[in-house]
Amino acid sequence: MAYSIHKSDVLVIGSGGAGLRTAIEAHDRGANVLVLGKCKRGDAHTVLATGGINAALATMDPRDSWLVHSADTLREGRFIADVRDVETLCKNAPRAIQELVDYGVRFHRERDGRLTQRFFGAHTYRRTCFVGDRTGKAIEEALVRQVQKRRIPFLGEVYITNLLMNGRAVNGAFGFDMNTGELLAFHAKAVVLATGGYSRLYNRSSSRILENTGDGVALAYAVGAQLADMEMLQFHPTGMIWPRSTEGVLVTEAVRGEGGVLLNANNERFMQKYHPRGELGPRDVVARAIYSEIAEGRGTKHNGVWLDITNRQLSYITERLPKIYEQFKRVGVDISRERMEVAPTAHYSMGGVRVHRETQMTNIKGLFAVGEVTSGVHGANRLGGNSLLETIVFGRLCGEHVARYVKELELASLDETNITKYEKELQNLLDSKGKYKPQKLRAELQELMWDNAGIIRNSKQLHAGMEKMNALKVKFRKVKIPGTSMAENANLVSALDLRGLFVPAEALLRSAIARTESRGAHYRLDYPREKNTLYNIVCYKSGEDMKLGRHRATKPRGNLARAIVQNERAEHKMLE
Ligand code: FUM
Repeated sequence: MAYSIHKSDVLVIGSGGAGLRTAIEAHDRGANVLVLGKCKRGDAHTVLATGGINAALATMDPRDSWLVHSADTLREGRFIADVRDVETLCKNAPRAIQELVDYGVRFHRERDGRLTQRFFGAHTYRRTCFVGDRTGKAIEEALVRQVQKRRIPFLGEVYITNLLMNGRAVNGAFGFDMNTGELLAFHAKAVVLATGGYSRLYNRSSSRILENTGDGVALAYAVGAQLADMEMLQFHPTGMIWPRSTEGVLVTEAVRGEGGVLLNANNERFMQKYHPRGELGPRDVVARAIYSEIAEGRGTKHNGVWLDITNRQLSYITERLPKIYEQFKRVGVDISRERMEVAPTAHYSMGGVRVHRETQMTNIKGLFAVGEVTSGVHGANRLGGNSLLETIVFGRLCGEHVARYVKELELASLDETNITKYEKELQNLLDSKGKYKPQKLRAELQELMWDNAGIIRNSKQLHAGMEKMNALKVKFRKVKIPGTSMAENANLVSALDLRGLFVPAEALLRSAIARTESRGAHYRLDYPREKNTLYNIVCYKSGEDMKLGRHRATKPRGNLARAIVQNERAEHKMLE
């Protein structure tokens, strides 16, 4: 089969906030950049990030600083996040907000012009900037405008199946146009993965069906890149649950930040029982509290709890939470007068590809990664509002370093034998005429992950999950792909997504088994306490096997260590 070849200095795979910010910076530093998206232009998952973006601007709470922001981030990550990553994130946050303002993002402001900052869960101070509850969409649109202004080429609805290598270095990618079926080879001096996380491993997720399917993790793993913290998957406390078609859709934390309260079916406001910050406790604690209320029989008819913001005027709600207002209005619920029925939903991957944070480079030459596809900055649990921030701060750094990397580099030749091999693999998959529909197998995987590696875990369930997953891998050999064309073939895309999802699924299950403690989002009923030693679990490919290793987590020093001590003291006082 024939394929077309597209050349660039830098190939960015992924067109959400992290990919676009990287592309802008690399372009501005002289690199010739090509951006690929699995989605259409401007419709990446970033548009679903709603509630806001953090920076210690101290516009509302003058005592805030990057040190307190860092201490909050490390505490929420239960001290296994990389300390330098966190410092870089929080120190650069005000600059990121200014960049977005310069790009035309119209954040909410107070009457005197100060940027308004709202509370998000587990923050010491108000530091989340927002555009109503459409912050991600506003940021994505602004970045798309900047990319267009610079005429950076973009190809949408492209599926990447493999990274290409010349010797030990990555120098391109192979895939196809999902609309036309055309085969595509991308030849580049460096490749940046900005493909998002793997929360679509779960059947109830705040991502749409094609998003966060672990593509980048699988691509990187296949060429030898290391993964870390894969057991750390965040369940957002509040997703929609009814009607069924809306299950998992995010109900932003901003609802609670703006005064919304959680009630069980007995109309009891239960959160104080679980955390002194109440509704604004850490996400893992709030998600587990809701889980417990439901498990102990105090759940609503559709197995959820109530989220109530009727204490706010309609005008306040439509100004600060317009998306949520419309989202519920569409299903017949007026949130200014009625309560929302909610339950936890798989939301964010703290684990992912290991990178050297200042450069965003992986352990494989020529391969960079940025945004949710990476690990390191959020540890065991992410603070709400830090993910949009991560895309902008590390997108800029990634763009800077990848541009520097490609500057003096010759474009190494394409290894066409590998392309032929990947073409054949793709054709073989397309020719599969077994008996199992890929969508059905994917649903089985998502269900087993929810049941066996969900909010509450234990050894028996995790091992059973591994067995079920291995059985699914065997079934996958008999997958059925109707049709003979790659064009508009949803079955082929589902099969490829599923093939990729097996990598984060195995890494998550194995790491969750190996982490015999409870920490952040990883809660083990059989090991309910945190251990004293702080470590990260690393996964890598060795032959055909997945191997696991451990790294000691980094330690804060100096002013940051002091800020953490103060932060912990305040937290303990609150918990007493
Ligand atoms: O609830 C939210 O708006 C989510 C924000 C985030 O995950 O950062």
